This record gives sequence, C-alpha cells and structure tokens, in this order.
Amino acid sequence: MKQILEIKDLQALAKARVPRMFYDYADSGSFTEGTYRANVDDFKQIKFRQRVAVDMTNRSLATEMVGQPVSMPMALAPTGLTGMQHPDGEILAARAAKKAGIPFTLSTMSICSIEDIAEATNHPFWFQLYVMKDREFIGNLIDRAKAANCSALVLTLDLQVLGQRHKDIRNGLSAPPKFTAGSIMQMAMRPRWCLGMLGTKRRTFRNIVGHVKGVGDLSSLSSWTADQFDPKLSWNDVAWIKERWGGKLIIKGILDAEDARSAVSTGADAIIVSNHGGRQLDGASSSIAMLPQIVDAVGNRIEVHFDGGIRSGQDVLKALCLGAKSTYIGRAFLYGLGAMGEEGVTRAIEIIRKELDTTMALCGERLITHVGRHNLLPPFGA
Ligand code: FNR
Repeated sequence: MKQILEIKDLQALAKARVPRMFYDYADSGSFTEGTYRANVDDFKQIKFRQRVAVDMTNRSLATEMVGQPVSMPMALAPTGLTGMQHPDGEILAARAAKKAGIPFTLSTMSICSIEDIAEATNHPFWFQLYVMKDREFIGNLIDRAKAANCSALVLTLDLQVLGQRHKDIRNGLSAPPKFTAGSIMQMAMRPRWCLGMLGTKRRTFRNIVGHVKGVGDLSSLSSWTADQFDPKLSWNDVAWIKERWGGKLIIKGILDAEDARSAVSTGADAIIVSNHGGRQLDGASSSIAMLPQIVDAVGNRIEVHFDGGIRSGQDVLKALCLGAKSTYIGRAFLYGLGAMGEEGVTRAIEIIRKELDTTMALCGERLITHVGRHNLLPPFGA
C-alpha cells in the first residue's frame, strides 16, 4: 500500500473505500464549485517569511478555543452524514479528537445522535445547531446538548436555503433519497463498507428520528428535513438561542465584516469565518481571502476562528498568521475517516500537527500563540 504522508493520500484511499454517492457528498461544492476550489487555491498565494538561526527548541502548539485548552489550534468541523463515510463515523471521529486533545463538533444532521456520542466518549464535545422552523424541536435539541455536557454550541447561520450540489442530485442523494440501480450498485461495490453498515444500528439522522412527531421512517424524515431550514432566521433568533443555551456560543458562517460586527453585538464568544466549505453561496470569496478584513473589523472584541480549504498544517499556519485564533477541518478528517475509520482521523490530525509544527519552526517561531502577519511576505505580511 502507498505510504500515507499527506491528506491527499487519505483522500485517494477514501475514494476507493466509500461508496461514490457518499464520497462525492464530501468532495463537492455547490453549483459550479468555484468557491469550493477557491478555498483551497487561494492559500497558495500566501507566502511565509523564512527565518534562520533563531532558537527553535521547546516549541508549543497549545492554545485555547473559547477558554478551553486545546493541544493545537484546530477542531473537527461539524459535517452532516459523517456516519455514512464510515459506520459509526461520528463516534470514531469524536474518539480520535478526544485522543488528540482537540474539540469534536457534532452536526445537527449527524447519523449518530448527541446521546450516542456522549455515551461512547464520556468526554465533552461541541454541538452544531441548524435553526429549523420547528422551534420546539430546536429548544429540545439545545436542552439535549446541555444534558450531554456539550461544552460549546456552534450556531450555523449560512444555511437558510440550501445551495445545490449537482453531484448529490445525480447520485440520488437528494431529499427524498432516490435509490436507483446505479446507487445500489455503488454500495455493492464497497463490500467492506456494506458489512460495517449492516453491523451498526446507526443509519439514519438519529438527532431527529424519534424526536419529532410524525417522523419515523426515511421518507417522512426526508420531507420534514427538506422543509425545515428556516429562511426567516434573524439576529433575534440568535439572542433567543443564546439565552436558552446559556453556555459558550460560536457563530458559524460569517464571511462579511458587517455581519461579523453584528455577531459581536450578540455577545457570542467566537465567530467562524466560513463559507460552509464552498457548499452554499457559489461565487462567494474564498474564506481565507475574507479573513484579514473580518479580523480588522472586529479587533479583539470576539475570538475569530476559521475554516475552508485547509488541507495541511501550512494552511493552518497561514490562517493563524492572518489573525485567526484557531481553525477547523472538514474534508481533511472526513477523508481520513472514509479511508481508515478512527485511525484515519487520527492520522489526518497528526499529519497536520506535524506539518504545522515544522512550518512554525522554519518561520522562526516557538509558540503558536506568537505567530502573526510578521511571519508572512507582502502583500499579506505586516
Ligand atoms: C459540511 N459543513 C457543515 N457545516 C455545518 O455547520 N453543519 C453541517 O452539517 C455541515 N455538513 C457538512 C458536510 C460535509 C460533507 C462537508 C464537507 C461540510 C461545513 C463544515 O462545517 C466546514 O465549514 C467545511 O467543511 C470547511 O471546509 P473544508 O475544511 O471541508 O475545506
């Protein structure tokens, strides 16, 4: 087998092991996928300042996210249907994150439920909330996250309407799902995955099924979900959610300086500069291109986190140099999960950790908390 040295190696393995409809679900953006590609490509224009003959011993990547200690400035982003990349995927990813000393964020649209993760890991994790029209359900979800000891709520604001991903429709992954001869064939070609799926009871959206009246089977679930994302969502809802939650609140999906200032006014603890991994507004700027102006707009009034296009430790360091306090990875860990389950997620995290540490050292820094624009060349550098 090919040596696994970078995230691309895990991606190739995931592609060979995960049924195409689920691999494509991860490896896609909305419409033309222009923003999805820009997220990755725009990192390439940013260049580090190489420094030599400075003391590079005793390095540390440790820092904090919303007041919680982390072994490196990176968390696992919330991703829907993670339990379809690999059986029990969310549980495995949460375990890998726990071992690595970084936060795991469970999506509302996960396969394993809040209670499944709490029971399997016995460790605090973060919960990501989508605002649905059914506010009673949302209130109950928040209460369930509290009961499970979740230590932060990540509120996603950039999915009031759904960006269209052509691949999902072609693969029959739309809601309601279409099981065509082609999609059944895709699964049959991945026997190891099929066996794993037969061996777990977790094959549907377990945060939802059994918690909403009238939603029991797959078809009622699909139509309920498709109709539930709330186009009326406003900043008033954020205030209501903040009060009901009462703990650390992170607002996800900010890509504009004005919205960032509005987020500050809510009193949230952090924002995530994000375009949902290029899955929503196609034609929007890459996340990394928007980061500096958002950092400038909010100053140190709120913690700024970042996601979108991170495939290496070099990418993490570039985001930190441009002012992010911390980062999240989505696809990079999903590829690890699809490739090798829990061990693959661990591998993805450790690949990035090593790249980050080496790159920081070669920039002449010993502490991750000290990096900044001074580590970059113009026009990005200070
Ligand atoms: C996502 N993302 C996402 N975000 C969210 O708030 N709730 C969700 O359920 C999902 N679901 C989801 C599924 C998949 C397959 C992907 C790839 C992404 C967005 C995610 O949290 C994050 O913003 C991006 O993944 C970051 O970009 P990269 O790291 O994947 O390039």
